Amino acid sequence: MQHIPVLYKEVIRCLKPYASGKYIDGTVGSGGHAKGILQASGPNGMLLGLDIDTHAVKVASSTLKTFGERAIIKKSSYVEMDKCVSNLGWHKVDGIILDLGLSSEQLYQSQRGFSFNLEGPLDMRFDTTEELMADEIVNNWPEHQIGKILYELGEETQSNRIARALVNERPIESTVQLAQIVANCKRRSKVGRHVATKTFQALRIAVNKEIDNIINVLPKALEILAPGGRLVIIAFHSLEDRLVKRFFRQESQDCLCPAEQITCVCGHHAIITRVNRRPIRPTNREITINRRSRSARLRIAEKI
Ligand SMILES: C[S@@+](CC[C@H](N)C(=O)[O-])C[C@H]1O[C@@H](n2cnc3c(N)ncnc32)[C@H](O)[C@@H]1O
Repeated sequence: MQHIPVLYKEVIRCLKPYASGKYIDGTVGSGGHAKGILQASGPNGMLLGLDIDTHAVKVASSTLKTFGERAIIKKSSYVEMDKCVSNLGWHKVDGIILDLGLSSEQLYQSQRGFSFNLEGPLDMRFDTTEELMADEIVNNWPEHQIGKILYELGEETQSNRIARALVNERPIESTVQLAQIVANCKRRSKVGRHVATKTFQALRIAVNKEIDNIINVLPKALEILAPGGRLVIIAFHSLEDRLVKRFFRQESQDCLCPAEQITCVCGHHAIITRVNRRPIRPTNREITINRRSRSARLRIAEKI
């Protein structure tokens, strides 16, 4: 069965691809959203698809082969999208999609180490040429530093307790062992989610420097958008979504001076309008078909 990417129809509807447009999929993955953009922008629309995962680049290149030179797939971080665009001789682009986080394909490849249900190494790198792996954090970082990332990046309220257990149980060699240690030390909280979800999320975000990447890409994405072009972002946890929400709010305001400042001294001008104040969420039907979509939030901004 063909895998349909999260919020597929909404992404295509919001990007409004047209025949001579140029688009960037900064997280091309298996090429699902990209394929929809290329179909909707035929016969001449162009798409630059980026991913830092070599395997994803291979999969997307094969998925999008039928579009010939209209699809350009490169192994690169989305943070470098401005350089990629100028290397192609493109001036501005008409739409950008970022579907943040990890793909189902990555989650279900046990050797990538993303899943607490599958026995695998403590890896968790999107880009396997990078040095830092989850193993280094879990087995070598000081307890307070582990506690800090679990709290800040996983929003884990039992971060110190887990950090202590991890340090006491070293060496930790696999994903399943890690999940078991977290399960053993945690006081039971909400049912429904696996107890190690937040720990795995925090480690993955730290390994891949996901927060820094989002902070760095947002202004670059707006810079290379043509007037009327849209930036469409799907976030999967509140930390990412909050960053996107605040950035969109800030860049849609004409002045950022504090309320008590009577005349503007900052000179800031709005460069986008927010297309939706509240994020678009998947329907119950989509969540039933793809349970992983349940936390997705889609925000859209349009360049003025
Ligand atoms: C949720 S998946 C995208 C799925 C894709 N929309 C599709 O239709 O198949 C996220 C992808 O982003 C990639 N990724 C994560 N961080 C990245 C970065 N800094 N630059 C480029 N790609 C990145 C991951 O490797 C993964 O393939």
